[in-house]
Amino acid sequence: MQNFFPTKILEWYSQHKRDLPWRTNNSPYYVLVSEFMLQQTQVPRVIEKFKEFTERFPTLQDLAKASKAEVIESWSGLGYNRRALLLHRFAQQVCEKYGGEIPQNKEELQELPGMGPYTTGAILSFAFNLPEPAIDVNVRRIYLRFFQGRDQGLPMSRKEEQELYEFAKQTIPQNKSTDFHNALMDFGSSICTRNTPSCNTCPLQNNCAFFPLYKNHKEKALFVMEKKKEQGTIENGKHIPNRIFRGRMVEFARKNQGREVLIYDLGKVIKKDYQNNEEKWLLSLLRKLQNDGLLNCQKVENKLVLSLPR
Ligand code: ADE
Repeated sequence: MQNFFPTKILEWYSQHKRDLPWRTNNSPYYVLVSEFMLQQTQVPRVIEKFKEFTERFPTLQDLAKASKAEVIESWSGLGYNRRALLLHRFAQQVCEKYGGEIPQNKEELQELPGMGPYTTGAILSFAFNLPEPAIDVNVRRIYLRFFQGRDQGLPMSRKEEQELYEFAKQTIPQNKSTDFHNALMDFGSSICTRNTPSCNTCPLQNNCAFFPLYKNHKEKALFVMEKKKEQGTIENGKHIPNRIFRGRMVEFARKNQGREVLIYDLGKVIKKDYQNNEEKWLLSLLRKLQNDGLLNCQKVENKLVLSLPR
């Protein structure tokens, strides 16, 4: 069964692979940038941004040499600006410690800024074709369904995560880690999707532990998670996450570097129906941006001066 799985996944991939700009030359730098961008952002949105970003910073060295402000500016539109700073620091450390070559060694790689178990595995498998699992929520879902007949949903213990990692490692076909992981990504986004999987036409259905459950008890088999509401506030009657307002602040700072602005006027720029009694909320967003190193802010009475870090 462990052999059937990668063989079938690769077979499916050979017919359905997506043409994505970071897959064109397996450049480790391209893989790196795409992985940072793809955290919490969907593929179609990343595609355009990826092209712009790699045109502006064609190599890891170019990125390392850029100022924070330039990197944040190039990231605008992607949100989660903290990722941009982590990527920037990653590039700088690789230049300082490893002469600009992204390490292929797991222990060295996972110490670098922004690296977690998934991103470390992703870089080793996508960029270096090494047999290291890259288990994100989509990949985890495929494994749990196919081998255990259970849907995502229940949080996994550390021991279970470790067991899944060991198991997944055994399923990586020799010398085909890059293709295999790209295949899992594509399979998870078009067949084995979270809420509406195409089990009825899935080429793996005969051997899949989840398929009989799905066929007989579709509603019960699928664990459709309620989306957790992010922290935020109401704007014009709609709940908007705070990260959107923080993004607007960064954008404002970029356009008005060093200019004085009334707190109230900034409020009106970032939130259409801003009121004076929301000042505490507004300042808490600013504090978070400052703590994350994304923004410099000086406050004098009811005025602010914002700027992006150098
Ligand atoms: N999500 C995370 N990494 C990805 C990749 N390399 N291709 C498509 N989707 C992804």
